[in-house]
Amino acid sequence: MKRRKFMGTLALSSTAMAFGSARAIDLKNNNEQLGLHGPLRFLQLTDTHVFDDRNSPAYTAMFMEKAMEIVPDPDIICHTGDVIMDALKKNRVEVADQWKLWHSLKKGLPNNIRYAIGNHDIWGGGPKSDPMYGKNWAMDEMELQNRFYSFTKGQWKFIVLDSTQTMDGNWYTAFIDDIQREWLIGELDNTPKETHVMIVSHIPILSTCIFDWAKSENGIWKVSGSLMHSDSHEVQAILRSYPQVKLCISGHLHLLDKISYDGIDYLGSGAISGNWWSSETFHRTHCGFCVFDLYPDGSYQRKYYEYEWQ
Ligand SMILES: [Fe+2]
Repeated sequence: MKRRKFMGTLALSSTAMAFGSARAIDLKNNNEQLGLHGPLRFLQLTDTHVFDDRNSPAYTAMFMEKAMEIVPDPDIICHTGDVIMDALKKNRVEVADQWKLWHSLKKGLPNNIRYAIGNHDIWGGGPKSDPMYGKNWAMDEMELQNRFYSFTKGQWKFIVLDSTQTMDGNWYTAFIDDIQREWLIGELDNTPKETHVMIVSHIPILSTCIFDWAKSENGIWKVSGSLMHSDSHEVQAILRSYPQVKLCISGHLHLLDKISYDGIDYLGSGAISGNWWSSETFHRTHCGFCVFDLYPDGSYQRKYYEYEWQ
């Protein structure tokens, strides 16, 4: 394994730009001393794509160690999907090996990781009659009772969606199905006005850097419904009718971006695996992870930590 050096904080994205990173940490400590609620520290990991090749295990282990140095006591750790390299087209033995590897690599993290199911976490390489086919296997590994769910911490509520659906019997297209849409509306209806909402999904609801993936043919941009939610307009319309919704985070594209639109911020994160462990950078985004400070007034600060392999 080559020696690797982490580069530290390089990117800052925030609705609370008045605060630098050190100031944000001080605020938390000061507030705790005063008995006030400080910001929640939210660590977002995404697209680890672990497998036993391309130095993925060693790089991931180093990454986990560094994340815990930077955020030793996160209030929430969320993995926004594509934990393993791929289950969509792999056989049972290969998928089992990848999950086993992930569980060994995450041992240094607190044992309360929240997951969103990624498209590559879904087992499509076995018979449909197998009880583990589809999302069941991933849900077992992630200890999920349901493929979409919510939880609340402090003044914030987190609504975790299941982006990946079948279309014509084939994986995968990004949208929320009817049952999930009804559930989402119910969750938002039942959210107190003073509670702030973060929507978590593997595939972005809205993205700008999607055009690094999309193609322009004969003057027409073509954006696949597997890259961004194909029901983006419908989901946005639901979310914008609830002022509690402050931001939506996602993985999937391996690209770091931010859109502020209609009162909601849509934030995509770079991947821990970078270019699927082939190189550190995919398009314009270096491999890394996000740390959020979520404030009781609904504002937030996001920092992106990049690292390099040396
Ligand atoms: Fe991915």
